[in-house]
Amino acid sequence: MGFKILGVDTSCDDTSLALLAIEGEKFKTLDHFVSFQKVHQKYGGVYPFLAKREHKKNLPLLFKRIKEKFELLAVTVGPGLEPCLWAGIEFTKNLAKKLNLPIVPVNHLEAHILVNFFEFPLSKVKFPAVSLVVSGGHTQLILMEKIGKYKLIGETRDDAAGECLDKVARLLGLGYPGGPAIEKFSKLKIKNQKLKIVLPRPMIDQKNYDFSFSGLKTAVLYDFLKRPERVRESRDYKILMAKEAQQAVIDVLVFKTLRAIVEFGAKSVIFGGGVAANDELRRQFLKISKAKKLNQQILFPKKELCTDNGLMVALSGYFHQEEATKEFDKIIARANLKI
Ligand code: KG4
Ligand code: ZN
Repeated sequence: MGFKILGVDTSCDDTSLALLAIEGEKFKTLDHFVSFQKVHQKYGGVYPFLAKREHKKNLPLLFKRIKEKFELLAVTVGPGLEPCLWAGIEFTKNLAKKLNLPIVPVNHLEAHILVNFFEFPLSKVKFPAVSLVVSGGHTQLILMEKIGKYKLIGETRDDAAGECLDKVARLLGLGYPGGPAIEKFSKLKIKNQKLKIVLPRPMIDQKNYDFSFSGLKTAVLYDFLKRPERVRESRDYKILMAKEAQQAVIDVLVFKTLRAIVEFGAKSVIFGGGVAANDELRRQFLKISKAKKLNQQILFPKKELCTDNGLMVALSGYFHQEEATKEFDKIIARANLKI
């Protein structure tokens, strides 16, 4: 069936391979494997060299499970953790040499955006679009005129939104990755109605599109430290803090994205990155845009395509086919690659 692309992502701690088939304007996932590296759980964060070792171990194992032949390879070259990126790049180059196939080098941030077009046909997307990429490594608002034409309009000055949630979760002992743990906890009910936590909404009133989440993390820490041990170790405290931290992040993201939409006359809003999997962010954004009678198209990837995955890389490879090359020496890791 059709034309097939193998996508490889090893930018952070997930090793992922996907086989995408293209038939006319339709995409189909033939295989998709994401191997979550459990080793990082006990540290509550990612260690690049440990992650690289895991990628090198996982890649051949996942590749054994790919059953069909393909015509093109696509690999994330950045941004990401340099040793991790190299693991994917070296693996893909070896495969490409063996099979005599070209490679499309892929920008991971762009892939988080383009994965939306897996389900929502590109031909139906109205531009310009404002895109919010929110992950563990990035929080960026991007103006998109079309594929390949992007302008960064704002970004975080310190921690990314996902990174902040990961750190809060670690402080509360909720586990790693923190975003999903916080989301799960925030849905629980509390017994002690007297307990109150108020966190700041950093930079929400500033007339720019930048973010700052490190102050939020510090505010959580101060609140935590001022509470007696029996309070901060209580289930109610953890639930309430998870709710408030998640809400503070959502408020800033939603407010600034809405302002960007209006100011730049966007006809659509495109979300991407791990934090975009958050139910509350999705629900509240849809609710507010409805209340404000905004008529932009709103695109969220399927939840499992928000977090890092090989399918988004294969799809980017499809949209950038003309960049396919056999000059493998030019394909190198670019840890700080911009969009
Ligand atoms: O896109 P991603 O998989 O990796 C990067 O490119 O960074 O994003 C991972 C981040 C982590 O910080 C994780 O805690 C967060 O996305 N995340 C979530 C959810 N799922 C993942 N944050 C909030 N709610 C979620 N459901
Ligand atoms: Zn990512």
